[in-house]
Amino acid sequence: MGTLGRKDLLDLEGLTAEEIGMILDEAEAFREVGLRPVKKVPALRGRTVINLFFEPSTRTATSFHLAAQRLSADVLDIKVGDSSVKKGETLLDTVATFEAMDLGVLILRTAHSGSAAFVARHSRASIVNAGDGMHEHPTQGLLDLFTLRRRFGRVEGLEVAIVGDVLHSRVARSDVWGLLKLGARVRLCGPATLCPQALAAVWEGAFPGRVRVVHELEAALEGADAVQVLRIQLERLQRFLFPSTREYSRHYCLTSARLRGAKPGCLVMHPGPMNRGLEISGGVADGPQSAIRGQVANGVAVRMAVLHLLAGSEEAA
Ligand code: NCD
Repeated sequence: MGTLGRKDLLDLEGLTAEEIGMILDEAEAFREVGLRPVKKVPALRGRTVINLFFEPSTRTATSFHLAAQRLSADVLDIKVGDSSVKKGETLLDTVATFEAMDLGVLILRTAHSGSAAFVARHSRASIVNAGDGMHEHPTQGLLDLFTLRRRFGRVEGLEVAIVGDVLHSRVARSDVWGLLKLGARVRLCGPATLCPQALAAVWEGAFPGRVRVVHELEAALEGADAVQVLRIQLERLQRFLFPSTREYSRHYCLTSARLRGAKPGCLVMHPGPMNRGLEISGGVADGPQSAIRGQVANGVAVRMAVLHLLAGSEEAA
């Protein structure tokens, strides 16, 4: 068994291509566990895993819970509305309380960029970032890479379009770092307010010539092997960035007609939750090129891999 050699998973920016490859290989092994009638291995027996989510989640919270259960950990989901956070307790005091009960891994989602790294610096437990504001959502990035690798056999050399509200998307940030590290090329596409040219500058500096911004969906799709459609983050949008949902979907909704402009068999992905008819049509979401359900299934295997490799790092320490 390999180990990641690190306590936390906070972002994909800080991982090497080798570390990402190790997680994806491990996820491949755990995917097989998910196909067995008894979907359980004893790897994390006796460890406590806590899901602490300050923002809504269906897929991520459920799949972390299932992943921890399938590894035989003791797993708890804390609903912030029922916790002492509501009485004014700080995030660090909440985490210290869990630590007193022998916390092994804390899976944390908050609306604040940088909060997972902050907690990680002050906690002995392994911290897994399940989405911190507009910063990163590394396990979503990993499961998207896993989905691409399973479909194409590799990520290197793929042309991947990421469409929509890139500015507010932690998924896009993790996807872009992961894709570039594994050798793909990325087209970022959306209206200039949600996908400004300047957004690509950091990635351009690190991976020259491998990421570009285009404002027409048709241009972004041309020759693309895969397209990741992002949810419009209505809760994070400021008034002036977004004229109307009707205007947006007229230009950027991924419809069957538009998808025909991509490579034949272009893989369609969406991290969920979807706004059907706004950023993606129902026909595309449920169509033969859609990998959206597969992404969700892959999420469990990838999260098992992450939990296992972090716990392995703990053992090795
Ligand atoms: C994403 C998130 O919360 O960042 N959802 C997810 O985890 N699958 C994307 C989103 O909310 O749009």
